[in-house]
Amino acid sequence: MSLRYGQPMIAIPGPSITPERVLRTMHRSMPDIYEGELVDLAFSLVEDLPSIARTSERVFISISNGHGAWQMALCNTLSPGDKILVLESGLFASVWGQMAERTHLNVEYLSGDNRLPIDPDMLGQRLSEDTSHEIKAILCVHTDTATSVRNDIAKLGQTIRNLDHPALFMVDCIASLGCEQYEMDEWHVDITVAASQKGLMMPPGMAFVWASQQALEAHKSAGLRIGYFDWDQRINPDHMYQLFCGTPPIQHLYGLREVLNMIDEEGLENIWFRHQVLADSVRAAVQTWQQPDGLELNITDPKARSNAVTTIRTGSINSEKLREICATQAGLKLGLAVGGLEADAFRIGHMGYLNPPMILGTLATIESALLSMNASIGRNGIGTAAEIIAKAFPN
Ligand SMILES: Cc1ncc(COP(=O)(O)O)c(C=O)c1O
Repeated sequence: MSLRYGQPMIAIPGPSITPERVLRTMHRSMPDIYEGELVDLAFSLVEDLPSIARTSERVFISISNGHGAWQMALCNTLSPGDKILVLESGLFASVWGQMAERTHLNVEYLSGDNRLPIDPDMLGQRLSEDTSHEIKAILCVHTDTATSVRNDIAKLGQTIRNLDHPALFMVDCIASLGCEQYEMDEWHVDITVAASQKGLMMPPGMAFVWASQQALEAHKSAGLRIGYFDWDQRINPDHMYQLFCGTPPIQHLYGLREVLNMIDEEGLENIWFRHQVLADSVRAAVQTWQQPDGLELNITDPKARSNAVTTIRTGSINSEKLREICATQAGLKLGLAVGGLEADAFRIGHMGYLNPPMILGTLATIESALLSMNASIGRNGIGTAAEIIAKAFPN
């Protein structure tokens, strides 16, 4: 016996839910790729993508997952043996750093804490020591999807600028773009990396690198440039074909056009507000459930909690069992914890195409599962979550 029948709910932190509207437009047979509608559509994407990263700089599109965009960013701006500084916070900055090592870069890690954001003073201290400007690039993530921390990119960018350090500032927004406020130009970022499958509500397979003038300048002498990813042929294309270094990902282009239209219709500010309210409701529920040796938000600093994903420590409550009950009894898939938190945590993805019934349903299902396990929790987390959402409704 199970209550699982009905529309399944996926609450993992990406790939996120793809709207019907996007799926429908992607469901088409092949058009002509040499002229006509598709060519215009591709160039319209290049024109419109900068606005979602709040930049006037140009974007390069990678037919890949986020790892491909990481690679594109490194190869186009750096040379073998260059020193780069990775600001660790959770899992993904470190994984980007490991890729940089395999790309023949000299990687230094500034270690962080799994429960806190990057400390801008630590960065300032390290850069002050680098008087010969040996460090050529600084890598970090905006939102780490494993720990659910949101780093203060504005402060980190300002720290680099205050010290007049010439290193390129590279930010991974794979889990935050289209969810959290992000201001590439205002926050002095040189490279922004994102991918299609999280806040951008698309299937995986397309990723993006926005590059500042300083990054484009670095590209001219970058010794790691490799054929397929090289910006040279992509930067001033005579034809759409060059934008993608080959045949374009046709269905993804149509899907992305629809996503950008949806973002434009809702407005970025409203998107950030919606994510803030829904994330606040998740946090309110967890804090109501919280008991000694029970559920607890992983990130301790309230200002550094992501609005796209929440990592919840479970203490003595069996997280595997909780996830299993939600999946098998109710059709709700919660995110597995990763990055060293596997044993006693789980994650709720709340990014992209999401509204109050989806998030309240998710929270109520988790509360039901916890009650069914006789877990020690504070009661009526769902009531506190509803109150948060009620405050966002106009009266
Ligand atoms: C913050 C962040 N960076 C990078 C990645 C890697 O992206 P991909 O799996 O698309 O290569 C992920 C994937 O979840 C991520 O969450």
